[in-house]
Amino acid sequence: MMTSEKLIKSKERVQKHGEVFTPSWMVQKMLDTEGVKEACENLIATFLEPAAGDGNFLVAILRRKLTMVSEQHNSSIRQYTHYSLYALSTLYGIELLEDNAQMCVMNLFEVYKDFYEESVKKHNEKQSENTLSNAKFIISKNIVQGNFLTRKLSSGDPIVFSEWEMTKQTTTMIKVQRTEYSLDEIFAGNEKEAGTAVELAIEFEQMDLFSDFDFGSESENDEPAQKYKEVYITEVYDEVKVDE
Ligand SMILES: C[S@@+](CC[C@H](N)C(=O)[O-])C[C@H]1O[C@@H](n2cnc3c(N)ncnc32)[C@H](O)[C@@H]1O
Repeated sequence: MMTSEKLIKSKERVQKHGEVFTPSWMVQKMLDTEGVKEACENLIATFLEPAAGDGNFLVAILRRKLTMVSEQHNSSIRQYTHYSLYALSTLYGIELLEDNAQMCVMNLFEVYKDFYEESVKKHNEKQSENTLSNAKFIISKNIVQGNFLTRKLSSGDPIVFSEWEMTKQTTTMIKVQRTEYSLDEIFAGNEKEAGTAVELAIEFEQMDLFSDFDFGSESENDEPAQKYKEVYITEVYDEVKVDE
């Protein structure tokens, strides 16, 4: 079958970085395998794509998760917003090349926004900028431009991910507490006290992917590690850390 999908950007990039994108029919086939299919429709199942490209797999998984949320947790815009942001927070990616990482971030955001607009329309509500800011914030933390093999950013700092642990759930709201782990800590299976943060200088490096987006005080603040508190998932963007 003919397809207009572009799977290769240049010969040089294929040789240098092994950059060949997976066609969407193959992505869907792989996501349909036993166990993976169920996880794509499971609100809390987490995924890490270690060579994310422009997000072929992550975008397809997000579509499946958001389809599930639209069908099962969409009796009000509040319910949809809380559950859809949580679904988004379960997807993680690492990509070596800046342009691909940027595309991955943007593609995930576009899909989130399209589904959100559908729900807004369904409930005859107004779109909330706050919801979209939270979505951007979560994506900016979960998609990292770095090297999966060395587990480092190009600066040499370790790759750090945020766990968004669900601490409370009702039919209409979800609360989370964020804890940060370096990729080394994740591989070592280190347990940390909930809410532990790493130094903010590292976070700043990782937030550049939404270059047009103002992350407010957090990115300007270079104070040492503090604790993240439990917040509604609709408040992670505004979240204030507390001294412990
Ligand atoms: C074969 S492509 C696959 C992209 C995507 N997963 C897909 O299936 O369409 C491999 C991707 O991995 C990236 N990559 C190569 N080495 C990497 C590394 N050490 N860490 C993270 N990403 C890497 C490349 O830049 C490229 O975008």
